Amino acid sequence: MSNYHIKGLEEYFQVYRKSVNQPEQFWGEIAEENFLWRKRWDKVLKWDFEKPEIKWFEGAQLNITENCLDRHLYASADKTAIIFEPNDPLEPAQHITYQELQERVCKFSNVLQDQGIKRGDRVCIYLSMIPELAIAMLACARVGAVHSVVFAGFSSTAIRSRINDANCKMVITSDGSYRGNKTIDLKGIVDVALEDTPSIETVLVVKRIKSDIHMRPNRDKWLEPLMEEASTTFTPEIMNAEDPLFVLYTSGSTGQPKGMLHTTAGYMVYAAYTFKNVFQYNQPDVYWCSADVGWITGHSYIIYGPLLNGATTLLFEGVPNFPDYSRFWDVIDKHKVNQFYTAPTAIRALAKENLSYVENHDLSSLKVLGTVGEPINEEAWHWYNDNIGKNNCPVVDTWFQTENGGIMISPIPFATPTIPTFATLPLPGIQPALMDENGNELLGNQVSGRLCIRFPWPGMARTIYGDHKRFKDTYFSTFKNMYFTGDGALRDATGYYRITGRVDDVIIVSGHNLGTAPIEDVINEHPAVAESAIVGFPHDIKGNSLYGFVILKESGEQRDPQNLRKEINQLISERIGPIAKMEKIQFTNGLPKTRSGKIMRRILRKIAAGEINSLGDSSTLLNPEVVQEIIDTRL
Ligand code: WTA
Repeated sequence: MSNYHIKGLEEYFQVYRKSVNQPEQFWGEIAEENFLWRKRWDKVLKWDFEKPEIKWFEGAQLNITENCLDRHLYASADKTAIIFEPNDPLEPAQHITYQELQERVCKFSNVLQDQGIKRGDRVCIYLSMIPELAIAMLACARVGAVHSVVFAGFSSTAIRSRINDANCKMVITSDGSYRGNKTIDLKGIVDVALEDTPSIETVLVVKRIKSDIHMRPNRDKWLEPLMEEASTTFTPEIMNAEDPLFVLYTSGSTGQPKGMLHTTAGYMVYAAYTFKNVFQYNQPDVYWCSADVGWITGHSYIIYGPLLNGATTLLFEGVPNFPDYSRFWDVIDKHKVNQFYTAPTAIRALAKENLSYVENHDLSSLKVLGTVGEPINEEAWHWYNDNIGKNNCPVVDTWFQTENGGIMISPIPFATPTIPTFATLPLPGIQPALMDENGNELLGNQVSGRLCIRFPWPGMARTIYGDHKRFKDTYFSTFKNMYFTGDGALRDATGYYRITGRVDDVIIVSGHNLGTAPIEDVINEHPAVAESAIVGFPHDIKGNSLYGFVILKESGEQRDPQNLRKEINQLISERIGPIAKMEKIQFTNGLPKTRSGKIMRRILRKIAAGEINSLGDSSTLLNPEVVQEIIDTRL
């Protein structure tokens, strides 16, 4: 039996039991057998959820890039580490070997050092999905600097607040980026952000779109000439296990985004371990995660997890609908992708289009399909399973959060039987607990409550950058001695978990708790419906009532709206019960979404409640224009 690579259900249960009964031994063995350490740890784990203080592998020394790069050079220097698939399918793809990646990271590390970046400094990276993004992150890690990647769809204001929060010394950006048939002026956006960021000394600029941009003397430097001159060797900085590796911002239900701080050794072990098992990666598979590196999924499952396992990871610069809706399937066919990992929102968008986009491609290389980021509705799950996996690839519905560092609850392909909409079982080392509102644990099966984790795992964030009190208040104060996820979940009769959505989205109607996700699932099953979101709005008698915002498929748009409303409610009555029927159903052409594809329910709740003059900040929306349309057609 190998703790590191689980191959069957029986083995999963054995490994899981060990991880709970002897957690230090379990993680100690995994760490010992699968990574390169410069010094062994003194103690595997020290923890206290009251403070909170979590330390993994204290006393150990390492550099994560030696584990991502150098150690693979003995046996697989010529193996492709990164396949870069550009936005324009006519631009040739690039295959970057481990050797070449290692050299480019060393060069970049020398550039960082020459520009005054030292161990512990914070570096903001604002780049689209190009190889330099991966190289910049790894170079930061090699010199011991802390990267703070800001998703390249964020505005100047968002970049500025993140730079100032972490006092970044440098920004790494490009002259611009390609996105479908558009170009985006990344440097211009950075220039505006930097109007009020006193800590920034240097801006390194990658040449990507060859646009004519303004370079501010003394501050802005082209990366290319500096790279040309730099040496291809760089001795990695030897880091302590708990030295920070990166900061990554995530929005809370209130207030400023939280800079989640991840540290070196624990994150490394957890990202590598979960990647190996959740995707059942075997050499020489080609793995593709279509997320953006600007999110935790991209950090852990495009960069660190795959590279730590010596995998080939595909980096895709483009979008699913350029040049047309077949692009994903085209990329899978072209590079013979074996594991594909994407978001339910992408699946739903593609499922709306004609199946011929899929059918023209050979997807037979696929072995495992994954989803992440939000609950996947049953209809989308089946569409993905039937049309992309051809009923032959396990679909792993993976649940985790920026705070977690890596996947927490997920099937293990070829081991865990899957059920649509269930993230199924906790990965080894993860001890979930469901709690009621009064702080009591709900024991046994067939219960639903607030999802907590009762024991530390190596990948968990250690603090919120610069605000440990907020870290404690947000995650460790609601339930004693528990990490509180903010999500609701149910545990079914077999012990499988289904994530029902954020608990702040739970709507109580006539005293009944209704999760939005399961109702939306049912609505989306209606053949005329493409996507939906429901929110609660105040009701005199029931406390709350349900308001549904529904996007119709083209076929649905021809139908009589009144009849459609009746049919949808009838379906809900049948599947969940009359209590879950919607009071109002508004048909709309779009839903307000954050740049990571999440529906911004806060805005929908306000509209549903008629509070259209206090919608709050909508500047982080991907599609702010839909808000007015929804207001204008409000019921
Ligand atoms: C939600 C994304 C249901 C959940 C990796 C969580 C999910 C939040 C799933 C974290 C899933 C993520 N099923 N819900 N498989 N995966 N979520 O920090 O509400 O961007 O708390 O990390 O996404 O979002 P974040």
